[in-house]
Amino acid sequence: MEVMTQQPGNAAATLSWGVKQSLRAYVTLAQGAIEASEGAVRAADGGFTFPAAPGDGLTLGADGRPEGVGRFVGEARFEAHGGMLKIFLADPRLEIGPAGAILSVADTRARDRRVELARLDLAAATIGDDGAWVIPASAARNGWQVLGDHYPASTPLDPVHLKLAPTEPVSGSA
Ligand code: HEM
Repeated sequence: MEVMTQQPGNAAATLSWGVKQSLRAYVTLAQGAIEASEGAVRAADGGFTFPAAPGDGLTLGADGRPEGVGRFVGEARFEAHGGMLKIFLADPRLEIGPAGAILSVADTRARDRRVELARLDLAAATIGDDGAWVIPASAARNGWQVLGDHYPASTPLDPVHLKLAPTEPVSGSA
């Protein structure tokens, strides 16, 4: 596999994710609504871009891959079929540890519940043209709680694009 290089960085700048392209196409075809707010914006490719929570970020591990916990802010909503289809997800969190990488989201406006929405395959990640990590994703076991029961566990979702902010080496306490 290709050797990956990326500018050194210790903060995650943005997480861009389309959730599932076929879902976006379906909601659009059903003349529903797809919206981003609270910091998230719709990206040119139709996905969502979530900025990193202030002061937070992932680090680059010894192997040059991101590790740790990255918290992002913003809301994404899908609505169609007169409100019968309603999907809400907010404040995605990327947790990368020895056991793998998980993307969780809050699935209520009150942020009083988080659900593991996707499992990410960091070993299969590549670097895109824009320098972002492109990480394959699939529905996690509890993903149905957010996306509904059309997508069983392991259903491929859109790859997550993770862009790290290049920063000066950190020394001393902030
Ligand atoms: C007005 C009634 C509805 C009709 C006629 C309808 C029709 C369809 C059709 C024809 C498909 C494509 C099936 C396939 O490719 O296998 C589909 C997929 C889907 N439907 Fe509906 N549906 C309706 C209501 C709903 C509701 C109420 C929800 C959510 C609660 C929903 C969620 C979905 C989802 C998530 C998919 C999969 C989209 C994808 O990723 O391709 N539908 N529906």
